[in-house]
Amino acid sequence: MRIAVTGAAGSLGGRVVQLLGDRADVDVVAMTRRKLPAEAFPPQVEVAVANYADPPALRAALKGVDTLVLVSSDGPDAQVLLHHRNVVAAATAEGVGHVAALSSVDADVASPFCYAVVNRLTEDLLLSSGVPCSFARASLYVEFFQAWLIEARTTGLLRLPAADGRISLVARDDVARSLAALAVGEPTGRHHDITGPESVDLAGIASITTEAWGTPVAYVDIPDAVYCAETAASGLDPWWLYAFSSMFASVREQRWDRVRDDYAQLTGHSPVALRDALSAHG
Ligand SMILES: NC(=O)c1ccc[n+]([C@@H]2O[C@H](COP(=O)([O-])OP(=O)(O)OC[C@H]3O[C@@H](n4cnc5c(N)ncnc54)[C@H](OP(=O)(O)O)[C@@H]3O)[C@@H](O)[C@H]2O)c1
Repeated sequence: MRIAVTGAAGSLGGRVVQLLGDRADVDVVAMTRRKLPAEAFPPQVEVAVANYADPPALRAALKGVDTLVLVSSDGPDAQVLLHHRNVVAAATAEGVGHVAALSSVDADVASPFCYAVVNRLTEDLLLSSGVPCSFARASLYVEFFQAWLIEARTTGLLRLPAADGRISLVARDDVARSLAALAVGEPTGRHHDITGPESVDLAGIASITTEAWGTPVAYVDIPDAVYCAETAASGLDPWWLYAFSSMFASVREQRWDRVRDDYAQLTGHSPVALRDALSAHG
C-alpha cells in the first residue's frame, strides 16, 4: 500500500511518516513544501516536494498513491482553505482511494473559531468529492497549549480569556497514531474524536501544571479585550492574535470539552493523560 502524508516536515506529519515507515506493508511518500536533507526521513521513505499552493506538484506527488493522510495546513484561514481545496482536487484527479484527514473536535461553520470553520468546510469538501475518507477530529494538542503554560511558569499566572471553558487536551503523538491507524484501515466515511482522557477547565490545567512541573501556576480569567490588548502589545502577529482570540471564544462555548474513546478504539491504547504529557515535556 502506498501512503502519502502532507505536512511531513512538521511535528505531526513527521510522526505519522515515522509510524507508517516502520510498517513493512506500506510505502510512504513524505510530502513537504521544501527540499530537506536526505537524513530528514528514514531511508525507505520517498520524498515529494509539493507546496499546497502548487496544484501540478500536488498531482505529481499523488500519482499512484492509494491513501493520503491530509495534515491540515497552517496560516490565514482563507489561505488554508484554498490549500485544502488544492489537495482535495489533486487527490480526486489522481484517483486516490482514501483520504484520512486531520480535522478538529470543534468543526462547525457556526463556531467563532476560524479553523473550526475551515475544518468543517474541508470535511464537507471531501465528503462531496466522492473520494472515500475518514476524519480524525483532534482536540487541542498539549504541545500547542503548552506555550501558554511555559509563559505562565515564569509569572505564576495563566492569564487567558477562557472563562470556565473545559478542554480535553490531547498529546500530539496520540493524534499521529490515530491518523496512522486510520490510514492503514478501510475508509470509515465518518469522523473520530481524538481527545485526551479528561476534560479540564483552566484552573484545573493550572493545578495539573503546578503538580507536573513543581512550579505554582494559578489561572486568572481575563476579558477577551484585555487578552487582545496585552497580546497585541507583546508584538504577536495580528493573524495569530485573531486566531487565538477566536479559539478562546470557542473554548468559552465549551466546544472542546468532549471526551471520547475513539483513540482507544482505533489504536487499542489509552490516550496519554495531561499530567503525564506535561511531565514528559517539562
Ligand atoms: N489541534 C491543535 O492544537 C493544533 C494546534 C496547532 C496546529 N494545528 C493544526 O495541525 C497541523 C499540524 O500541526 P503540527 O504541530 O505538525 O504543525 P507544524 O509542525 O507547524 O507542521 C505544519 C507543516 O505544514 C507545512 N506547510 C505549511 N504551509 C505549507 C504549504 N503552503 N505547503 C506545504 N506544506 C506547508 C509546514 O511546512 P514547513 O515545515 O516548510 O514550515 C509544516 O511542516 C497544523 O498545520 C495545523 O493545521 C492543530
